[in-house]
Amino acid sequence: MTNFIIEPTATPTDPARRAELVANPVFGRVFTDHMVTIRFTEDKGWHEAKVSAYKPLSIDPASTVLHYGQEIFEGMKAYRTADGRISAFRPEANARRFAESARRMGMAELPEALFVQAVDELVKIDRAWVPSGDGRSLYLRPFMISNEVFLGVKPASEYLFIVIACPVGSYFSGGAVSVWVSEHYTRAAPGGTGEAKCGGNYAGSLVAQAEAKEQGCDQVLFLDARERRYIEEMGGMNVMFVRDDGVLVTPPLGGTILRGITRDSLLRIAADNNITIEETQIDIDDIFEGAASGRYREAFACGTAAALSPIGRLRRTGGEAVFGDGSSIGPVSATLRQLLMGIQAGRSNDVHGWIH
Ligand code: COI
Repeated sequence: MTNFIIEPTATPTDPARRAELVANPVFGRVFTDHMVTIRFTEDKGWHEAKVSAYKPLSIDPASTVLHYGQEIFEGMKAYRTADGRISAFRPEANARRFAESARRMGMAELPEALFVQAVDELVKIDRAWVPSGDGRSLYLRPFMISNEVFLGVKPASEYLFIVIACPVGSYFSGGAVSVWVSEHYTRAAPGGTGEAKCGGNYAGSLVAQAEAKEQGCDQVLFLDARERRYIEEMGGMNVMFVRDDGVLVTPPLGGTILRGITRDSLLRIAADNNITIEETQIDIDDIFEGAASGRYREAFACGTAAALSPIGRLRRTGGEAVFGDGSSIGPVSATLRQLLMGIQAGRSNDVHGWIH
């Protein structure tokens, strides 16, 4: 265990105001009273682990992150369970993925135990900010930036790891999500950074996401970079489909898509419940044809922020694919969502040991 310096804020949010914010959470707009910071330098390694007041950062304009974008992040959640405990969902998996992202981006690796401890420290001091109720949680955003002061292009020698948190409800405001298939932009190519959770992947997706909005859709769906034919992932979450034979179909992890922890959890829950899984290349034309013929009955987005959100329709130039009635969640998706939320909320047996 690392000794954290604890410097509680001198100006905590008024409890009545906090209660109001926690009762009406909006994704990513309001942050808790504290943050965690840990520094890395080549001579000292990881040091100065601290919990202190949430505040703006002061960094040198020549910090490498501002020029070459060495930045990675995670998304994870802490839940208030029915019996009043607070639990985090699979934080060790986030710690592992964070280390993998760091390796891919040439950054210093934060020891996994320190990552988990850092998140615990923040949740502990800001526990009053963890909302209760279905679909609500404290969203945790661990991230790391390179902050060596240098304009040369090389992996930096100094890093800053930070954890911030915000109370959240649903990521999507409406019911079923509408999705625009980007046929022009791609997200990641073989050998690229698609599997790393780095800010650059999201920056590169934004113009396509804006195009989706212009087309009246909530989210963008990317196809593979080689053939522009096989489904990869959405702007910030993985995607799955349910066929009429009850099989759950999702693109395989091949280096270009994010190793979603929600994705992995849903696949394991599906297997536990005798739902057949196919991790296979999915041709976009097959999905459009299959939605029209009824062969593909359900589609959903899955991720930490999105949880499991049904997709009502996919749109592309000259066509639309509608799943079910286009607005409600399908039966297999509903079952999977209920099972996942049951574990996260502490209502179901945690057979996999996912609750921390
Ligand atoms: C998450 O699901 O936690 C993410 O990082 C994705 C982002 C769209 C919020």
